[in-house]
Amino acid sequence: MTKGNTVLIGMQWGDEGKGKIIDILAADVDYVVRYQGGNNAGHTVVIGDTQYVLHLIPSGILHPGKICIIGNGVVVDPWAILQEMNELTSRGIKIEGSLYISENAHLIMPYHKLLDIAKEEHRGTVKLGTTHRGIGPAYTDKIGRVGIKMVDLFDEEVFSEKLKRNVLEKNFLLEKMYGREGVKEEEIKKQYLEYAKLLKNFVADTSVMLNEAISAKKIILFEGAQGTMLDVDFGTYPYVTASNPISGGACTGAGVGPTVIDKVIGVVKAYTTRVGTGPFPTELEPELNEKLRLKGKEYGATTGRPRRCGWFDAVAVRYAVNINGAGNLAVTKLDVLDEADIIKICTGYKYNGKVFANFPSNIRIVEKCEPIYEDIEGWMEPTSHIRKYDELPEKTKKYLNKLEELVGAKISIISVGPKREQTIFLDK
Ligand code: IMP
Repeated sequence: MTKGNTVLIGMQWGDEGKGKIIDILAADVDYVVRYQGGNNAGHTVVIGDTQYVLHLIPSGILHPGKICIIGNGVVVDPWAILQEMNELTSRGIKIEGSLYISENAHLIMPYHKLLDIAKEEHRGTVKLGTTHRGIGPAYTDKIGRVGIKMVDLFDEEVFSEKLKRNVLEKNFLLEKMYGREGVKEEEIKKQYLEYAKLLKNFVADTSVMLNEAISAKKIILFEGAQGTMLDVDFGTYPYVTASNPISGGACTGAGVGPTVIDKVIGVVKAYTTRVGTGPFPTELEPELNEKLRLKGKEYGATTGRPRRCGWFDAVAVRYAVNINGAGNLAVTKLDVLDEADIIKICTGYKYNGKVFANFPSNIRIVEKCEPIYEDIEGWMEPTSHIRKYDELPEKTKKYLNKLEELVGAKISIISVGPKREQTIFLDK
């Protein structure tokens, strides 16, 4: 089903249900690659009656024989990845020989996590609602050219030197700027050199590995985390994550050229959700919000936070389709709308008497705009047992056709429940 090298990305604010779709597509590929973000992500996969939640390790690990890569664009918390590796091993999943981490991936250090919390508190009323995993501060150091890379863990002299300089700066910030306790250099050094021993066999030059695999005609799936609207360049800045989840990020975050990418699939939820703060034009009023949250079990896989819920926003998704060059869509959680008598789709934003059909760059407009809705009659019957497109209710098809028409991409996968088999393929 996955013909050629594919990038799979979220088209909304994350949590589109990418984990399940990646898991399905992974069956047909040789390599699965994470290219950005860190353990702020949470990909839920249900196999039979067992649920797995993966934060850093590509979901492909659940398929025996697949090579899973954590690319240079990811920020890795060694403690978190070792936890995840242990958890998978204890559940009988093979890691040795299946998982490789880029030498060039930057490390999340204990001071990044402390700074993430301190900065967030310092923001007062304009909090970003980060996951507190140290993601933003780790990328800040990467771009600031003071970050510590995975490869540095294996050269004690380089590691110690970089750590010393960082602790000096970060303790100044933590103590003097934020009035908190600083970190202890020797403690971190000891701890991270221990991690180095445990991670040694998993660290490699993954860009070389991938390019060799491509030459050998192996098939690669690039697994995006978060979503387009959380992209640091194209999302609702500053209420975004610190990396590039968009398809372009797959090249810089994995070390492959754009010419090797054959296909881009965007994942969209049949409605919209968002965790954390920031503008959300189609957000529902509290009562309906809660109803959709309960029906869709909309609670964060990483932080457990309740997700904000709203109607499908075709303005945002059309923008995401263009930025990512997504020719195909996977629509998830369609069954969650089974009991809605009227379903709304946002087709434009209205602000100061002007209608915006394209997503505005001015965050103020996104914050204050009034969504323009088109109402679609709900199908009011169960769909989670359906496996063929033709068997979907006519009103469901009408909703899906409308989405395609408004966003300009073809739906090729429909998910009607969390299980692998609760999936409808349209291009088979
Ligand atoms: P950070 O990535 O922890 O810095 O958080 C920045 C913003 O991105 C916050 O609003 C988070 O809630 C959001 N975010 C980060 N990762 C995810 C994710 O995997 N799904 C949904 N939202 C996310």
